[in-house]
Amino acid sequence: MKNEILTLLPPDHPWGQSLYWYETIPSTNALAKDMAKTGAAQGTVLLADSQSAGRGRLGRSFCSQSGGIYMSVILRPDCDPQELMHLTCAVGVAACDAVEDVTGFRPGIKWINDLMANGKKLGGILTELVMDGGTVRSAVVGIGINCTQTPSDFPPELQAIACSLSSVTGKAIDRASLAAALICRLEEMSKNLQDRQSIMDRYRSNCVTIGKQVTIIRGDQRTSGRALAVQDDGSLLVQFDNGSISTVNAGEVSVRGLFGYT
Ligand code: BTN
Repeated sequence: MKNEILTLLPPDHPWGQSLYWYETIPSTNALAKDMAKTGAAQGTVLLADSQSAGRGRLGRSFCSQSGGIYMSVILRPDCDPQELMHLTCAVGVAACDAVEDVTGFRPGIKWINDLMANGKKLGGILTELVMDGGTVRSAVVGIGINCTQTPSDFPPELQAIACSLSSVTGKAIDRASLAAALICRLEEMSKNLQDRQSIMDRYRSNCVTIGKQVTIIRGDQRTSGRALAVQDDGSLLVQFDNGSISTVNAGEVSVRGLFGYT
């Protein structure tokens, strides 16, 4: 798989230099964070055929059986964490671009980090920062996308809410092509991260949460309202059923639709 991906990347692509492929590891994000701490360069790419302890947002697990793409990339942005509030959104847009490049199908994004198709979860994004004092030493960008799984490949509790690119498009999915497209789109994104306004405009037009009735889940507490907008820092503006309007932050809450997962 590694050689296939390398032949699909443009010659001398800067991120082809440090590409690691694993049959199975606990989590590409966990390993990438360790590698980032010991000096791995911007553009180091880790890919696994499966993960035994895939990680999701808010401490959840991410089902990572063979048939998906599980990728982490190390970035070394030289800036304050406040300047990276939109990173997860930027990665979401880049991931949608890559999927569309390869399949012709563009997923939706459920705030803040879920890739969606037909109301089901196609994949997810987990960005993690490695800090040094108040500055960002590195950022690890993790992407998981279900590619060739059939519904029965997912555990029973996920069968109604998860889907794969092959089941959605009815096409065979070449994971090496998708991995190469993701690498190209993420490299492009890393060079344009300062252009927050246009990234967020693209995110908003891709986001399936805006305008929907939602339930905001904070620990055990559930509150319902309508998602009004996604702000430039990635937070969600919500009008709650009591009429009050406030922003919710992706680090604290998750969102469910009233009817199903979206
Ligand atoms: C989520 O759904 O909350 C985010 C899922 C992110 C999964 C990817 S797969 C590659 C990388 N390694 C991990 O352990 N997680 C991310």
